[in-house]
Amino acid sequence: MHKLSFIDRFHHWRRKMRWNKQYKKGKWSYLNDERESSRYHKIVDYIKTYATTNPSILDLGAGEAVLNQRLNKNEYKTFFNVDFSSASIDIAKTKKLENSVNLVADIHTYTPDETFDVIVFNEAFYYVHNDLKQDVLDRFIGKLNSEGILIVSIYKEGTDCWELIDASSKIQQLNFEKVATDRESTYWKVGVYKKV
Ligand SMILES: C[S@@+](CC[C@H](N)C(=O)[O-])C[C@H]1O[C@@H](n2cnc3c(N)ncnc32)[C@H](O)[C@@H]1O
Repeated sequence: MHKLSFIDRFHHWRRKMRWNKQYKKGKWSYLNDERESSRYHKIVDYIKTYATTNPSILDLGAGEAVLNQRLNKNEYKTFFNVDFSSASIDIAKTKKLENSVNLVADIHTYTPDETFDVIVFNEAFYYVHNDLKQDVLDRFIGKLNSEGILIVSIYKEGTDCWELIDASSKIQQLNFEKVATDRESTYWKVGVYKKV
């Protein structure tokens, strides 16, 4: 964060305020819709296929904890929902999901004390400021357990995201798929990586 100029930090703060406003208005409740479900389904599928059993999971930019909801409580040990929007975390808290921690924190600066079996950037990595993407990626790879996996979902092609992830020598791709919907223009790419 210290790498950002005053004006960039100001814009970042304004974006956070915008997210809060939008969550309060219910603008993001559509993420619970059927069309979106294939994306969450793919992430859950990757967790079940590639993660250790009963994993600890960190979801960065977790919003209203929709991914957490898609897992049964016996499918994870702990689930950390982290988002810089307090309004989204307030909604997450109302769900009272078991073994879940809901935390207001900024990906730009958040450094958890714990390490995790699964770390997820579900439609969140492209919001990280370009000057901080490498730092954020490296910081969270460093928070993976030795058998840990990183899962990234990005709407359409994204910009300056996959290039950075693919170039990292600290992770190795296990799978990468395009998740399509009934609408041609709506698709995501979802990758899963292990620590090397
Ligand atoms: C498109 S939403 C996705 C929400 C959730 N991952 C999902 O798919 O259901 C992007 C989320 O990233 C969060 N976000 C954006 N920048 C962030 C940052 N720097 N730190 C923490 N959260 C951030 C927003 O508040 C928002 O909840």
